[in-house]
Amino acid sequence: MARGAAFLGTETAILCGAMSWVSERNLVAAISNAGGFGVIACGAMTPELLDAEIAATKALTAKPFGVNLITMHPQLMDLIAVCARHQVGHVVLAGGLPPAGSLDAIKASGAKVICFAPALALAKKLIRSGVDALVIEGMEAGGHIGPVSTSVLAQEMLPEIAEALPVFVAGGIGRGEAIAGYLDMGAAGVQLGTRFACATESIAHPNFKKAFFRASARDAVASVQIDPRLPVIPVRALKNAGSELFTAKQREVAQSLDEGVLAMAEAQLQIEHYWAGALRRAVVDGDVEHGSVMAGQSVGMVKTEEPVAVILATLMEEAAAALDKRAA
Ligand SMILES: Cc1cc2nc3c(=O)[nH]c(=O)nc-3n(C[C@H](O)[C@H](O)[C@H](O)COP(=O)(O)O)c2cc1C
Repeated sequence: MARGAAFLGTETAILCGAMSWVSERNLVAAISNAGGFGVIACGAMTPELLDAEIAATKALTAKPFGVNLITMHPQLMDLIAVCARHQVGHVVLAGGLPPAGSLDAIKASGAKVICFAPALALAKKLIRSGVDALVIEGMEAGGHIGPVSTSVLAQEMLPEIAEALPVFVAGGIGRGEAIAGYLDMGAAGVQLGTRFACATESIAHPNFKKAFFRASARDAVASVQIDPRLPVIPVRALKNAGSELFTAKQREVAQSLDEGVLAMAEAQLQIEHYWAGALRRAVVDGDVEHGSVMAGQSVGMVKTEEPVAVILATLMEEAAAALDKRAA
């Protein structure tokens, strides 16, 4: 983990992936204070809100943390400027290839850029364009997902790119033994979301946490695309009545596309706004029936509320024991 930890400026190379509405000042600061790397989920925040969130996080921790920005945000460059003003050390770009000028703007501020690489060819392209680190995330993860599993991505990509830059593996990690496995394969560290979502310091609604504790791996299912003309990125969440609401939303947006009332880009943005609203409903309002309880398949390993420091210590002990066993 030394390489990943040096890159992040932390004790452990464990990132808590940004989770919209969940990864705010309290969870982010708790993760960083405990020796991990917290990441603020900017999501659909305005530059003013992000500015306040970074300032509030800084008031709670002197340790490094990052900010996750969604590439399709209409004010992406303004959000980058906010991060630069605060001298945020690491900016994570999610949601597609970084638009022209965004990498340069982040790097000009002195920050490091972390991107998601969904396939080997894209990873190589991102490396050529100057990103500093990559996250490879499999379809076991909670939230927006790609089509390939973490184990396959890791086997396919780590041997090709892990020497060039630090690579963090994400998706389906619930225990330290898995972390040890990916480190063995060349990863510089890992990123977890589901395992941290219900930490004591997480402000997620008690209903959201209860839904996690009750769920097993098979309850965390990917959303279904109902219209081939409307490509929607699948989202992994606990199955509930909200899945029907998403089907209805897709029908409504597909019809607007047919009628020419909406262009494709706008249609996709509407779908993303839908998810942000549905997640808020579950995380903030506690409506876990109609909202979106985004969760990865590792949710079955989340049994109870624990402080972040305990979760991190457990993961590190499990990983160390697994590596010791191999060395023996
Ligand atoms: C509730 C929830 C919300 C998430 N929101 C975001 C997000 O806003 N931006 C993002 O890049 N990833 C998001 N993710 C993905 C996480 O950052 C992380 O990569 C993922 O949870 C790792 O896989 P795991 O859930 O199997 O641990 C979210 C995940 C969850 C569970």
